[in-house]
Amino acid sequence: MSSYGGNSSQIQSVPLVSFLFLFLWMLSSSSSLVVSVVNNNGCNKPAVLFVFGDSNSDTGGLVSGLGFPVNLPNGRTFFHRSTGRLSDGRLVIDLLCQSLNTRFLTPYLDSMSGSTFTNGANFAVVGSSTLPKYVPFSLNIQVMQFQHFKARSLELATTGAKNAINDAGFRDALYLIDIGQNDLADSFTKGLSYVQVTKRIPTVIIEIENAVKSLYNEGGRKFWIHNTGPFGCLPKLIVLSQKKDLDSFGCLSSYNSAAKLFNEALYHSSQKLRTELKDATIVYVDIYAIKNDLITNATKYGFSNPLSVCCGYGGPPYNFDVRVTCGQPGYQVCDEGSKHVSWDGIHYTEAANTWIASKILSTAYSTPRIPFGFFCRN
Ligand SMILES: *[C@@H]1O[C@H](CO)[C@@H](O)[C@H](O)[C@H]1NC(C)=O
Repeated sequence: MSSYGGNSSQIQSVPLVSFLFLFLWMLSSSSSLVVSVVNNNGCNKPAVLFVFGDSNSDTGGLVSGLGFPVNLPNGRTFFHRSTGRLSDGRLVIDLLCQSLNTRFLTPYLDSMSGSTFTNGANFAVVGSSTLPKYVPFSLNIQVMQFQHFKARSLELATTGAKNAINDAGFRDALYLIDIGQNDLADSFTKGLSYVQVTKRIPTVIIEIENAVKSLYNEGGRKFWIHNTGPFGCLPKLIVLSQKKDLDSFGCLSSYNSAAKLFNEALYHSSQKLRTELKDATIVYVDIYAIKNDLITNATKYGFSNPLSVCCGYGGPPYNFDVRVTCGQPGYQVCDEGSKHVSWDGIHYTEAANTWIASKILSTAYSTPRIPFGFFCRN
């Protein structure tokens, strides 16, 4: 709906039309309101985004960087081929890009000719955590890759390359950070106790703060920070957990408690950053609340059992077997029309990601409640 923004003067000169629009708006149900919010974010000029994170946001970085194969049926729903995304289709970040009228982000490590970085780059890679530092592709390495990218891009811009991002482009860009899940989940998987895992939270938060400050020092002013989801509800982690302290929904209580503690700390950290970096916009998004609503109310939203994997092996209750994961010989996959929450035991399906993205774009889970369209390029 980018033409809507472009026609605003025309709409002002026809008051009847705008009243009618307002009337229809008021009549519309809450679900179609969400759709309207998604569409109205359309930018006239494609936005520039830089993404830092893990597999929740990896649009092909693992494949480009390490040549690690990601096979079909990954990608079957939207792309009809494997793109390196761990899902049947688009990720939340893809849907956010689409709402800003910008192309899907190219992974930073994608060196193939024809790769374009005019709308930003994606530094997120499967498996990434904030710690340990200086290990591919921890958060500070992703930031260092960004610094290299920026220096090279400015160099190209000064030599007259038309589409290279210049200083203004880096200042106006949106910097999205979604990381921390692996720091916590891997610690549990390695056998650390709840107390040991939660003791690590402050150091993880400091890494995220340092990343925001580095990006700010590079000129970034617009930040979008996702908190971490209820990873105690991820089927793979439930199957692999040593201590099965399941809550009434069948999720691991200690894992979700750790996620909530991490999120509280991240919330306070983004508040602190807002006072320290005065001219920056820092939006904190409660992904936990969104995913928790989807998982606990799955049937109400038309989804099937959220703890059962679409692409896996082994049958009920989880359909997950670490020896036969999605895309490996022997896997089984659900029908394409079915609405599963979990794609492969860790990652969400496109259907779930679409639901999650619409909730993100509703601003109801954002602090402060800034519409995503704010990140359109001026
Ligand atoms: C599930 O839905 C009910 C009813 O709409 C709501 O009150 C509850 O908060 C939802 N659960 C979560 C975790 O959001």
